[in-house]
Amino acid sequence: MRIGVLTGGGDCPGLNAVIRAVVVTGTRRYGHQHVGLLGGWRGLLERQGRPLTPEDTAGIVARGGTILGSSRTNPFSRDGGGARAAESAAAMGLDAIVAIGGEDTLGVARRLNDEHGLPVVGVPKTIDNDLSATDYTFGFWTAVQIATDAIDRLKTTAESHDRAIVVEVMGRHAGWIALTSGIAGAADAILIPEVPISLQRVGAFIEERRARGRNFSLIVVSEGVQLEDDATDEAGRDEFGHVSLADIAVAERLSAGLRARLDVDVRAVVLGHLQRGGTPVAFDRVLATRCGLRAAELVAEGGFGRMAALRGDAVTDVPLAEAVDELKVVPPTLYEQAETFFG
Ligand code: F6P
Repeated sequence: MRIGVLTGGGDCPGLNAVIRAVVVTGTRRYGHQHVGLLGGWRGLLERQGRPLTPEDTAGIVARGGTILGSSRTNPFSRDGGGARAAESAAAMGLDAIVAIGGEDTLGVARRLNDEHGLPVVGVPKTIDNDLSATDYTFGFWTAVQIATDAIDRLKTTAESHDRAIVVEVMGRHAGWIALTSGIAGAADAILIPEVPISLQRVGAFIEERRARGRNFSLIVVSEGVQLEDDATDEAGRDEFGHVSLADIAVAERLSAGLRARLDVDVRAVVLGHLQRGGTPVAFDRVLATRCGLRAAELVAEGGFGRMAALRGDAVTDVPLAEAVDELKVVPPTLYEQAETFFG
């Protein structure tokens, strides 16, 4: 078989480890050939690919980013894009595709598989950890480690200057990175999209601390948190209809609000793409490798329309539909546990 491999959506530490595992497993175990499609679904639409042998993937397990490039191209946002994608696959001699991506990329994978008869296997990816049907996505723990290191560092400078520092982490719809790094870094408050919280309450945490002689605070906020009088609706949208949060920085708005309410020196730090760059932590490398291996097995078994998934200790597989149907958000109980340590 000749297999197309692509990475779509935002990049994520561990993508290269998946590519390597798919290619090495497919080649050594099943004698498959592989073609890397460049720039996500764009590579399929534009028929841009490069051969991928195990030798081509040597030495990439620890490398951040993706050797195939990525994009947020959505074939279904173009007229006849789904049919064109299927035609391209046939023209490139591809028997199946392994699509490594988040809910958007896997949503396209599902539609191409179900509606256009293009055999696709998925591998879930996102640093946000917000995909259903898998316990963790690779890249998440790398992002959490980077955010935790940042919190640790910001705390010492906040303490030296009696400041409140608001640190913004990624997470448009789900607060997994904020919650997990906030717990690990003993943040004084954690703001996530799932739980509405007022500026006044955040201010109260800072004031309570000051009353106890703790003159510095560290607040972790997810980029997707909505604040009162937010102008987010006026922002641009990408090809999947998501608001582009790149220029908004909730940390800045929160800091301004706190400064206006309290007699406190406040600074905002936006970690942004630092959380996605660089080498994956060991857990993510291993998870990515196991998911890539399972995807290659699925191709060989004809398990199309399915994706690799971590369930407990096992990497198994589930229908793509399960992955894209529902966003995995932070459950209230987990947030309540974290809240115990606020202020
Ligand atoms: O979906 C993953 C993610 O990292 C989000 O947390 C973040 O909002 C987004 O990607 C940023 O993507 P871009 O690469 O378009 O700036």
